[in-house]
Amino acid sequence: MRLRAGITRFFEKNAREFPYFLEILSLYYKKRVSMELEAACVRCGDRVLCIGGGPCPFTAVYIHKFTGAQVTVIDNNLDAVQAGNHFINKLNLRSAITFIHADGEKIDLDGFSLVHVALQVTPREKVIRHIQKCAAPHAQIIVRGVLPAQKAVLEPEWKASRIEGLTWYPTMVLSRY
Ligand SMILES: C[S@@+](CC[C@H](N)C(=O)[O-])C[C@H]1O[C@@H](n2cnc3c(N)ncnc32)[C@H](O)[C@@H]1O
Repeated sequence: MRLRAGITRFFEKNAREFPYFLEILSLYYKKRVSMELEAACVRCGDRVLCIGGGPCPFTAVYIHKFTGAQVTVIDNNLDAVQAGNHFINKLNLRSAITFIHADGEKIDLDGFSLVHVALQVTPREKVIRHIQKCAAPHAQIIVRGVLPAQKAVLEPEWKASRIEGLTWYPTMVLSRY
């Protein structure tokens, strides 16, 4: 798991310099995001928060492209925020995607109907608990990677279901009962 997260991080950091890297990354995210969106039934009217956008925020880009939804992306690393904004500007998506500097442990979740948690987000347990405690009643969470401590991270009123058919690492959709 750590190795995979490390490989993704390496690709993300260097991808902008090498168009082939960028193309591979883009294909990787395109397939994943389309399956995640289908599993969570995401629509144009949803307001989406992506936690951990990184320098190449492909997840946010494909969420918007596939659904038309407005997306806010956060990252707690200033360099990633700067690079991520550059990436979004180059794609002319500034009106659809907002990328800000913030931490997933403390972010205000008001108004978001879907919260997406990237694979490398840490501390995972604290971030996932914060979302479950503060998200809107109808909100869903997509979490890439295994849930910490098996399912012990789930708050009492929440359930998790695994998205079938995704390779490399599991991805879960969390929703309230
Ligand atoms: C390498 S990116 C992967 C995301 C990928 N680009 C995507 O489109 O899904 C993961 C990012 O998560 C950020 N991150 C890790 N923990 C975080 C937290 N608690 N809050 C916000 N961002 C976080 C890291 O700084 C890193 O830039």
